[in-house]
Amino acid sequence: MKIVQTVMEMQRLSREWNKQGLSIGLVPTMGFFHEGHLSLMRLARSRCDKVITTLFVNPMQFGPNEDLDAYPRDFERDESLAKSENVDVMFCPETKEIYGDDFQTSISVNLLSKGLCGADRPGHFDGVATVVTKLFNITQPHLAIFGQKDYQQLALIRQLVSDLNFDIEIIGHPIVRESDGLAMSSRNKYLDENERQLATCLFEAILEAKKMVYKHGGSIASDEIVKMAQDRIEKNPSCRVEYVSVVHKQTLQPVDVADSEAVLALAMKVNNKVRLIDNSPL
Ligand code: PAF
Repeated sequence: MKIVQTVMEMQRLSREWNKQGLSIGLVPTMGFFHEGHLSLMRLARSRCDKVITTLFVNPMQFGPNEDLDAYPRDFERDESLAKSENVDVMFCPETKEIYGDDFQTSISVNLLSKGLCGADRPGHFDGVATVVTKLFNITQPHLAIFGQKDYQQLALIRQLVSDLNFDIEIIGHPIVRESDGLAMSSRNKYLDENERQLATCLFEAILEAKKMVYKHGGSIASDEIVKMAQDRIEKNPSCRVEYVSVVHKQTLQPVDVADSEAVLALAMKVNNKVRLIDNSPL
């Protein structure tokens, strides 16, 4: 596996592969790999001649009081894991390589970036949209794979690709979970033992919501789902709901009826410290 750190070298390689008619699969990440990331790499490997994973902790998507400096990093471990998944190139630029001193541009996906995580993290999705656009231009992939845990991010990237006419297939990979249902995330590392146990309430709320929809013949008032999920999360005094919302699976607009067109999206903070998100179609 080759480590590439400059935009010029990455573009040169991708151009060469494109010229040779080789298909390129991209897995954008911020590193600290877990099974979720590795499953994205495996899928790219099974679909493409060449696989690029990017490892870049993107400052533009972190707010001033967020965890940019504390974000978990372990380059050697990531390198060896990506190697074991037969990734061809790990593109890991320095911040100044991506954002030069005179950087001025921001990509905004207006509607989709507003609700859910966008409400609590102003500017976050502009940062995501901007860096993903840059990574697409730098790596020139045929397909790119993103985890469905970041459901809003995935919807926004699909919109961006359509709006800006990128000729890239976007694939959403199902959420990879721990054995007790907690969605895998690099941020789970912040949880102590007790918090780790509390964190399963998100998945429990999802399971209960699915049961409620099923019991009511496939649809139920969204309010009932929202109330159940809020109660389940906040029965733990250390857990605070950031949002619980039943939204349309494509527009992400809140819907009154929870049915097969809807997704339950949840975010909570544990001990006012660790922010966790999860979602599921209903
Ligand atoms: O999902 C992530 O890890 C990041 O938001 C992404 C897509 C790599 C952009 O920085």
